[in-house]
Amino acid sequence: MKTLNFYFKDCVKNGYVIGAYNFNNLETLKGICLGCKKTSSPAIVALSEGAFSYLGENFIKNTFESAKKEYKIPLFLHLDHGKSFEMCKKAVDLGFDSVMIDASALPFEENVKLTKKVVAYAHKKGVLVEAELGVLSGVEDNVSAQADHFTNPQKAKEFVEKTGCDTLAVSIGTSHGAYKYKGEQKIHFDVLKKIEAEIPNTPLVLHGASSVPQEYVETINKFGGSIKGANGTNESTLKKLATKHHIYKINTDTDIRLCYMAALRKFLCEQPEVFDPRVPNGKIIEEISKLVEHKNKKVFMCENKK
Ligand code: G3H
Ligand code: 13P
Ligand code: ZN
Repeated sequence: MKTLNFYFKDCVKNGYVIGAYNFNNLETLKGICLGCKKTSSPAIVALSEGAFSYLGENFIKNTFESAKKEYKIPLFLHLDHGKSFEMCKKAVDLGFDSVMIDASALPFEENVKLTKKVVAYAHKKGVLVEAELGVLSGVEDNVSAQADHFTNPQKAKEFVEKTGCDTLAVSIGTSHGAYKYKGEQKIHFDVLKKIEAEIPNTPLVLHGASSVPQEYVETINKFGGSIKGANGTNESTLKKLATKHHIYKINTDTDIRLCYMAALRKFLCEQPEVFDPRVPNGKIIEEISKLVEHKNKKVFMCENKK
């Protein structure tokens, strides 16, 4: 089985990325794995701190190990946005393949200090560490105007040298959630190129990279939901970021949530007589697998990279 370390280099060299898909339950995990199985792709499956406590340690360990056996694809377990040393330590001790320490909201030197501490602990146990420098714009920000939030390329070099982190999440204009842009999307390729020039050997990570497919938004709104004005980063931009840059991992959570809720809402409205949850759940798994298959083939370009 290829290691994450192998993919760090291979992705950048061969112009593709690994999809890092967030999961919360068995249905999301099955849908992700099934999609990756269809495309013969590796996958990083990520748990936020919220998802970690929702599932619980035993379910995490056992469902992940079961998924690896069942789907026989390179599958890596990742902690997404760990905020403290204790949280990262818990994930390392549980056998995660990589952890993210997100101290990006702290002043530079404090971010360095905390990241270094996580690196020292994780590396002793062979676990890789993603860190973050810069702040991803929030839902309320006008992302294109928040240049001071972007990752500073010179600081990125200093940060990587001081902390020894394996990969770095960068802020170049994307944001988390389903409402990414007030006006036109604006990804700052100029900032990204400067970061790549400063730290050419550090694989980069893109957060907040959902494309918010309008078909899901329309279905949700049509069947009783209310997520008016939701939007994301278009797929051609994501493909360019995936294939022409030093990015090795692209995170997707919102699109899976939208896919899930669109399938569920549609099913419940169209088949009100059904009360066996396995029926809508089966549909949800199928729809998530189609989403993941599409992303792997057409956006992340990681088909047959197993
Ligand atoms: O980037 C992080 C996730 O999309 C947020 O996940 O709502 O489980 O904290 P959460
Ligand atoms: P989205 O909200 O755009 O899916 O971003 C997910 C993410 O970055 C998880 O860390
Ligand atoms: Zn994120």
